Amino acid sequence: MQWSTLAASSSPGGKWPLEDKRILITGAAKRIGRSIALHLHEKGARVLLHYGHSRQAAEEVASACAWRGRPAPLYQADLSKVDEIERMFSEIGESGDGLDGLVNNAGRFKRVPALEMTEADWDYIHSVNLKAVFFCCQQAAKLMLERETGGRIVNLSSLGGIRAWGDYAHYCASKAGVIHMTRSLAKAFSPAITVNSVAPGIVPFEAHDQPHVLAGIQLTPAGRAGSGEDIAETVAFLMSQSGFVTGQTVAVDGGLNLV
Ligand SMILES: NC(=O)c1ccc[n+]([C@@H]2O[C@H](COP(=O)([O-])OP(=O)(O)OC[C@H]3O[C@@H](n4cnc5c(N)ncnc54)[C@H](OP(=O)(O)O)[C@@H]3O)[C@@H](O)[C@H]2O)c1
Repeated sequence: MQWSTLAASSSPGGKWPLEDKRILITGAAKRIGRSIALHLHEKGARVLLHYGHSRQAAEEVASACAWRGRPAPLYQADLSKVDEIERMFSEIGESGDGLDGLVNNAGRFKRVPALEMTEADWDYIHSVNLKAVFFCCQQAAKLMLERETGGRIVNLSSLGGIRAWGDYAHYCASKAGVIHMTRSLAKAFSPAITVNSVAPGIVPFEAHDQPHVLAGIQLTPAGRAGSGEDIAETVAFLMSQSGFVTGQTVAVDGGLNLV
């Protein structure tokens, strides 16, 4: 496939319908990843689901996202290991049906005060939040370039990649890295593939009674916490646009980055 031929995926005003598109969501078993999988499935996409440890929860999402009577395909990989990422994408390639889209959702989050941070703490966050996002983008792009319709990538970053949180320097750096890497890869993969990012604000799933979470929600101009659906709608919006929206980060945070 010629690179120039793939520019067709960026034709003026042309949308990128989600129907029948094969879209991989990492960390799809629970929480935001689950919401994204269910939403893209509702929009007609054929979702592929990655999970790390949560096999049972992933199987439930796969049943809910069945396509032509068959559960959505599941892929297991420890994303902190590049060889496991490469194996997962080989398996997807060998399935013969190709890949149209990728949502890099899987992530790690851990509070570590800066003066107590160890190399292991730093690598724990960066191996998944930044390194894995790069190698998943790389591997996915190789498959997407085989498609005449090009591809779409959406990376989950964070409000923490925009605002500075003192006890999360490693996390904030990893998510700021995702935002800027999204811009670099948007250039690297243009015009065939768009690469955008969604930066969630506070999206709690358990009872959120921790004082700093409650304080954050009270500060949020929208007057509430975010939901998985808030994030999923924006992911679907970015995926379905023409090829003229790329390299962008949309904060889905109820305006918290403005405070
Ligand atoms: N929730 C929020 O308030 C919020 C705010 C800002 C940004 N975000 C970002 O939005 C995304 C989703 O957030 P979330 O809260 O739903 O995430 P989460 O529950 O903390 O993690 C999502 C999934 O990532 C997978 N994962 C983590 N490390 C992995 C590894 N080494 N290998 C394979 N899978 C791994 C886990 O899959 P398994 O369970 O299968 O192991 C987990 O279920 C993340 O990138 C997060 O940083 C979330």
